Amino acid sequence: MSISFLGNQPIHRVGFGAMQLAGPNSFGPPADPEAAKAVLRHAVEHGVDHIDTAQFYGPDVVNDLIREALFPYPEGLRLATKVGAVRDDHGAWLPSGEPAGLKRQVEQNLRSLRVERLDLVNLRRFERDMPNGTEPPLADQLDALAELRDEGKIHMIGVSNAHADTVRAAIDRTGIVAVQNAYSILNRTDDAILRLCREHAIAFVPYFPLGSALGSGGPKHLAADPRVSAVARKHDVTPTQVALAWLFAQYERMLLIPGTSSIAHLNENLAAGALTLDGEDLALLDAVEPVPLGS
Ligand SMILES: NC(=O)c1ccc[n+]([C@@H]2O[C@H](COP(=O)([O-])OP(=O)(O)OC[C@H]3O[C@@H](n4cnc5c(N)ncnc54)[C@H](OP(=O)(O)O)[C@@H]3O)[C@@H](O)[C@H]2O)c1
Repeated sequence: MSISFLGNQPIHRVGFGAMQLAGPNSFGPPADPEAAKAVLRHAVEHGVDHIDTAQFYGPDVVNDLIREALFPYPEGLRLATKVGAVRDDHGAWLPSGEPAGLKRQVEQNLRSLRVERLDLVNLRRFERDMPNGTEPPLADQLDALAELRDEGKIHMIGVSNAHADTVRAAIDRTGIVAVQNAYSILNRTDDAILRLCREHAIAFVPYFPLGSALGSGGPKHLAADPRVSAVARKHDVTPTQVALAWLFAQYERMLLIPGTSSIAHLNENLAAGALTLDGEDLALLDAVEPVPLGS
């Protein structure tokens, strides 16, 4: 499996996004928890060394599945989580970014994952979801996480759902190692953020790398795109594998966390790490039409 870097740590480029393992809308338990754990075990047995999770997936459900499936964790497995949000009783996602709340959420993740140190904690910002809302000052949030880093409870810090100014400020203040924003061949709105990551040699870990499960689902749109299909036929691979290989071609520190609850899909996603697109493919794929999220 091909290797990149998270901070100065070597890491496989194909990781695993665990959000799909909870119930619908990442709320409540999955229909078959044993099947969800089998997906996690299969991922790790086949070389995944980076799992993206959050206490607010479920809530609690996904971290519990990870611990039950994988503890004691194999050497070298990186667990990345997010703080800055909570769920209400109906599953709505609510901001919870006060420094004390962030620290509490880190402790919850440490407890439920049963680790002494989290490998990567992403500060989940709400500046894009609620542009007119108020959010605690970024500096206070980052300082709270940096204190936990100093105490040894966090190894590395990243930001998520962040504007370019936030990424720049976080690089300057805290030395972040990763940005987790939505990005895929179907949604390149954050090209400027990707450029910023390249400039500073920090990892870009796009969420929704296949265009998400929302609406009719990104994979359906990928299969319907004639350019993606043409490249898939040429290499005898699937449209989703083309979408993942396209992401790899954008940046050597692009780390992927495609989400799936299916072992067959997981195998496909892992195999995409071996697919290299040529200049002709990339030129054709440049013209793929964006698809609005949720359509
Ligand atoms: N920071 C944030 O705010 C944020 C937000 C959202 C997500 N995330 C993280 O990012 C990860 C990835 O995002 P995501 O899971 O929402 O979206 P995604 O990876 O773009 O797409 C997931 C969808 O694709 C399907 N799929 C996966 N592999 C496939 C394959 N090989 N062929 C066909 N369909 C396939 C899945 O269905 P099946 O289960 O049927 O395979 C699911 O419907 C999440 O798991 C989560 O860890 C972070």
